[in-house]
Amino acid sequence: MTTPLSIEQVVRIAPVVPVVILDKLSQAVPVARALLRGGVGIIEITLRTPVALDCIKAVRDEVPEMVLGVGTIMNPGQLEAAFDAGAHFGVSPGSTANLRAAVKERGLPFLFGAITPSEVMTLLDDGFQYLKFFPAEASGGQTTLASWQSPLADAKFCPTGGIDVIKAKQYLNLANVVCVGGSWVAPKHALENQDWIVVEHHAAQVMALAEDG
Ligand code: 3PG
Repeated sequence: MTTPLSIEQVVRIAPVVPVVILDKLSQAVPVARALLRGGVGIIEITLRTPVALDCIKAVRDEVPEMVLGVGTIMNPGQLEAAFDAGAHFGVSPGSTANLRAAVKERGLPFLFGAITPSEVMTLLDDGFQYLKFFPAEASGGQTTLASWQSPLADAKFCPTGGIDVIKAKQYLNLANVVCVGGSWVAPKHALENQDWIVVEHHAAQVMALAEDG
């Protein structure tokens, strides 16, 4: 990709950002291609397995049209590794002063996690308007986000954690939700069984969310 994407562009690529946890390098390219066949042009590969960075490089090299996110970034070292491997954007379950400073310094597209008004205020104060709301269902879900619409009006969210396709539709109806994240699109059993048809089918369901109105 020649021009770097802004986080505002990233969160509008698809209604759902599929979060994937890859145990094998051989899963990376097929899952990315299955998502694309279903119409979803974005993926978040989490840095939770020994093969994660190699998976990110493989998708960068072999599926270059995919907008590639790297999730579970905990510190500036992982941030550097993720973007060196080809990340277009980064995601973290929370935020630390160190990581915020590193992201700001490099001007990288990034979704930091927040679940309290103070965390949201800290991130807004640092110039981050698009935030991950994680773990969404365990943190009051739609009720919490709806109650933040007025007092935290500048913040826009990508709720993630415990969300399925039905709940995704409900979250997307909230004015302060720009997209939803979730692992159900490419679930563990499909990855293990190399069931790319299931992933493609889920991706198509995700894209239909945008059309249902
Ligand atoms: C994440 O890994 O970012 C979230 O835990 C995904 O949550 P889910 O598995 O409940 O969709």
